[in-house]
Amino acid sequence: MMKGVPYLVAVAILALAFSLASAYDPSPLQDFCVAINNTDSAVFVNGKFCKDPIYVTANDFFFSGLNIPGNTTVNKLGSSVNLVKVDKLLGLNTLGISLARLDFAPYGLNPPHIHPRGTELLVVMEGTLLVGFVTSNPNKLFTKILNKGDVFVFPIGLIHFQFNIGQTNAVAFAGLSSQNPGLITIASTVFGSNPPINPNVLTKAFQLDKNVVDYLQKQF
Ligand SMILES: *[C@@H]1O[C@H](CO)[C@@H](O)[C@H](O)[C@H]1NC(C)=O
Ligand SMILES: *[C@@H]1O[C@H](CO)[C@@H](O)[C@H](O)[C@H]1NC(C)=O
Repeated sequence: MMKGVPYLVAVAILALAFSLASAYDPSPLQDFCVAINNTDSAVFVNGKFCKDPIYVTANDFFFSGLNIPGNTTVNKLGSSVNLVKVDKLLGLNTLGISLARLDFAPYGLNPPHIHPRGTELLVVMEGTLLVGFVTSNPNKLFTKILNKGDVFVFPIGLIHFQFNIGQTNAVAFAGLSSQNPGLITIASTVFGSNPPINPNVLTKAFQLDKNVVDYLQKQF
């Protein structure tokens, strides 16, 4: 009689585990699951269509071009990020990882932002970066100056930034613990949403003059 109860509990826990797991990159149930749209040559594994392993080639796990510096003059901030995520490297699907190249002009800034789905592990290859992240509550800043070869970790979901404080270009690479870590840039998200957030909300939230809010909304 009682045997059914633990069974149900186990099923409930499993169901919960699966629903939690699906909130993050799923753990692979197979060696790989190369992403595919065309279901003709696909197998259904772990909740996703995967390319049939028969048709998978080395190129599904390959990306080329991270030797090429990003163009740091395309924005006002003097920085450029090239993120190799699952859209660019289909073999990343379900593996919970991606890789970015970050380029900074002198005094270039990768402005305060969040990756809602990924922890970031950054290594500086050239130059000097002032980096930091702020915890959720209380809002404590952890900050450090990084030189060539230095590594810093930005925990998942926390606001962080990287600023080139040197007079030369800076280059860094970062691994992120998601195939698609996501990006919320604080300034452009808050002041540049579409449609815009009511300026009265921003005036009060940031304790700014309305003209300043209008000005900021025009920047994005
Ligand atoms: C799937 O199709 C969409 C829309 O056509 C396209 O943007 C995307 O790159 C495709 N993805 C793959 C894995 O082929
Ligand atoms: C970088 O971007 C700027 C502005 O879009 C453009 O004028 C310039 O030619 C680009 N430089 C390179 C090397 O692509």
